[in-house]
Amino acid sequence: MLYIGIDLGTSAVKLLLMDGEGRIQKIVSREYPLSFPHPGWSEQNPADWLRETKAGILELTEGCDKSQVAGIGAGGQMHGLVVLDENDEVIRPAILWNDGRTAEETDYLNQVVGTEKLSAYTANIAFAGFTAPKLLWMRNHEPEQFARIKKIMLPKDYINYRLTGVHCTDVSDASGMLLFDVQHKCWSPEMLEICGVTEAQMPQIFESYQPVGTLLPQVAAELGLPETVVVAAGAGDNAAAAVGTGTVGEGACNISLGTSGTIFVSSRSFGVDPQNKLHSFAHADGNYHLMGCMLSAASCNKWWMDDILGTSDYGAAQAGITDEMLGRNHVYFLPYLMGERSPINDTNARGTFIGLTMDNTRTDMTQAVLEGVAFGIRDSLEVARSQGIVIEKSRICGGGAKSPLWRRIFANVCNLDIEVIASEEGPGYGGAMLAMVACGEYPTVEAIAQQFVRVVEVIHPDPEISARYEERYQRFRQIYPAVKTLFPVLNG
Ligand code: XUL
Repeated sequence: MLYIGIDLGTSAVKLLLMDGEGRIQKIVSREYPLSFPHPGWSEQNPADWLRETKAGILELTEGCDKSQVAGIGAGGQMHGLVVLDENDEVIRPAILWNDGRTAEETDYLNQVVGTEKLSAYTANIAFAGFTAPKLLWMRNHEPEQFARIKKIMLPKDYINYRLTGVHCTDVSDASGMLLFDVQHKCWSPEMLEICGVTEAQMPQIFESYQPVGTLLPQVAAELGLPETVVVAAGAGDNAAAAVGTGTVGEGACNISLGTSGTIFVSSRSFGVDPQNKLHSFAHADGNYHLMGCMLSAASCNKWWMDDILGTSDYGAAQAGITDEMLGRNHVYFLPYLMGERSPINDTNARGTFIGLTMDNTRTDMTQAVLEGVAFGIRDSLEVARSQGIVIEKSRICGGGAKSPLWRRIFANVCNLDIEVIASEEGPGYGGAMLAMVACGEYPTVEAIAQQFVRVVEVIHPDPEISARYEERYQRFRQIYPAVKTLFPVLNG
């Protein structure tokens, strides 16, 4: 049988076709626009996701025996607010995970409702990108549209809804809404009331590996697929990527270098970061996880290469960065091009180069961008370590993970063994694995991960380079506290 994995990302939807042995038969990718209607805002049109996902499924299954397709599972960009009216029409463009417009609502939640209550209700505090502050923003700024909301959902849930007609979500993605009681895996009545919504507007909750339904007859006909195709609840893209890299069960770690950068630690038991700097979410394997999220990771490098250096040859731009140079750069880059989530939670923070002298070259700045992202992930790693969580190795996935240089920088900055997986298609591969479990092919997510996920390379930190980076990191961590009060002034 065949399984379709969907990674509904921020720049594109990536789809893969996997066979029953976990081999990838084909991969397709289709882009859609991302709009920044005001500085710090970030929106997308759900119709674009749906159109490109359907076109992607057609392209993916072209030439294969479509009757063999048994299941579909998606990992999707998290936290995005999708709202439908009583005619099932999308009310406004989706407000995405990296949108910073809700600073006031976030402050209201954290300061007026209070972080203690939020943490007790949901296991988390408010961050600007989370869904609850977006609902409050709509209520404050678009009251007529807010009053028309019939259904609330997350990006991949919109796809699942259009495929199956079932208004559903899964526990991992629901965790990022700040409306969900993560420990008990149910909607928080207190949070729904605070946001002025009711449970009737919320999706039905499933474990990520559960089937939510089968394809609607008209969708099956449109895609040329059997009506029996099972659609799994799927997961937030980070949880799906964790499944795809085998980051399941107790104490496993994954670093994802996509548009965002995340560090994800799986756990069999529920736990909360006492400082609430890391998110405490349900995992797609039925357990829980802690996660730190940087808003700009591989996107910093993409911005630097595409928009600033004007090159598509990243390898050539990085060719001059030798081992000798690692840990010796006196140029630093704060990677806060979209503000920052973890661990500083500051929508005002901005990207910054600091430490430049006459002898610096653009290669030093290129290196500083890669290092700034690694230092940013290390900041979240340190929060986890400060809670006594021992992390000595991590898997890695996402577009940025394809760079051997960046993997080496991560191993040395974080002092971790970095494990490279045979399939780098984190969320898409995890989505297809969840579909297989939903189809009953494997009893648990851990069982399929054990069977399918293979480490092909381990990058060990080099003691000399990581010692140099240790010293650089201690300098890096002083930069943001020293300049943070400037950002609101600079932003006017
Ligand atoms: C996680 C987060 C991002 C998005 C990216 O909290 O906001 O990683 O899921 O798609």
